[in-house]
Amino acid sequence: MKDKWGNKSGCIIRKVFCVVYVFDCRIKKHLFTFVIMKLISILFILTLFQMLSSCVSNKEEDLPKNPNNCDTLAMSYAGDIASLFKNNRCLDCHSSQTATAGIILDNYQSVVNNADKIYPAISWPAGTPPGKQMPVGGPKVSQCEIDQFAAWMNQGKQP
Ligand code: HEC
Repeated sequence: MKDKWGNKSGCIIRKVFCVVYVFDCRIKKHLFTFVIMKLISILFILTLFQMLSSCVSNKEEDLPKNPNNCDTLAMSYAGDIASLFKNNRCLDCHSSQTATAGIILDNYQSVVNNADKIYPAISWPAGTPPGKQMPVGGPKVSQCEIDQFAAWMNQGKQP
């Protein structure tokens, strides 16, 4: 069914208009009001999109890149570093049992001994071949965990 402005009565803009402004749809019998209301509802939809997209991008920016959310003070193996290897599935391949490539990451002494290899393995400096980017087959370790590992090394690899 079409109204006298040639619009299908099920038109989305009209629906949004009707829901948002609880007026009677018949108010549109005046062309001027109709056009103004249509503009308002288009603006409303644009604003909604704007709000939605800015929410999403803010979230992404705030996650691990914000150094303020990342505690790197007084790092210890037991309190901060051991969980990195559990959280990122390193132990699937580098436990005492599996020991892939001779690397064991389930105890303090072994992590201390391999620290100089672990840091580039998780931070992927330019030129790191894909096969050396840990965890193999998994997403990169978060920037915060990488920063915490570096801080732990700089702070003398505390147990
Ligand atoms: C799916 C199995 C798998 C997972 C998960 C995995 N690794 Fe590895 N890792 C390997 C393999 C295979 C190698 C040998 C790569 C090579 O030398 O080509 C390796 C090598 C290494 C090395 C030695 C790199 C070098 O320079 O020789 C380190 C350090 C390492 N892994 C740390 C980690 C850390 C830390 C994690 C977790 C963030 C992790 N791995 C997760 C399979 C895995």
